[in-house]
Amino acid sequence: MRIVIRIGGSVIANPINIELLGRYADITKQIKAEGHEVAVILGGGALARQFIGYGKELGLDVTAQDEVAISCSRLFAQLFLKRLGSLACGKVATSLDEAKQCMRDGKILVMGGLMPGNTTDTVATLVAERVHADLVVKNSDQDGVYNKDPRKYPDAVKLDKLSFEELSKVFEQNEHKAGIHQIIDPEAVKVLRRSHIKTVVVSGFKPENMLAALKGENVGTVIS
Ligand code: UTP
Repeated sequence: MRIVIRIGGSVIANPINIELLGRYADITKQIKAEGHEVAVILGGGALARQFIGYGKELGLDVTAQDEVAISCSRLFAQLFLKRLGSLACGKVATSLDEAKQCMRDGKILVMGGLMPGNTTDTVATLVAERVHADLVVKNSDQDGVYNKDPRKYPDAVKLDKLSFEELSKVFEQNEHKAGIHQIIDPEAVKVLRRSHIKTVVVSGFKPENMLAALKGENVGTVIS
């Protein structure tokens, strides 16, 4: 399978958890060794938001703030890439063309942010679309998609599986309730929907969940 792994900044960077990042690298190697083609997209988390704050303080425009945040995500991507050694491409990809070429070369693709006005969720889906991925695995700070924000509503129910259309509806219903829409960026949902890329949302605090998801075990939420 061709798999795009998305590691949320909220998982590895809020606070920065290098031990977890290392475990992600080991499991990524394992997935590659099992014969899969792999891309990994890392978010910038609190560091990115901190730098967005510095940019604001300096009076930079939103695009400039985003550019700085993208650099933060690329720092995490660089650490991750170096840890993978020769299994990964020589450098963090900064365009979809580079991403495609890296995977063509049989290497593990590693990326952070791509362009202002986005999130790394959207980057992951754009990469998945470009390389015709079979699966996106989103490692989130929540263990799946709920019918409403589980941090606010104790009666929220985790959904084992849902369609792209149902996912869009969950977002519409929860538009004004912070939290739920963050699990997958709405822009990313649009890409997934138009390209019909199967996606699994799992808790990112246990990277082993990815292996279970690949075996088709019932972890998190499957969107297809
Ligand atoms: P991230 O996508 O890095 O957030 O975007 P994250 O920490 O991983 O988020 P979780 O874990 O899913 O919650 C952080 C910010 O960086 C800018 C945007 O401002 C975004 O909100 N960014 C990131 C871009 O402008 N373009 C990108 O391609 C990526």
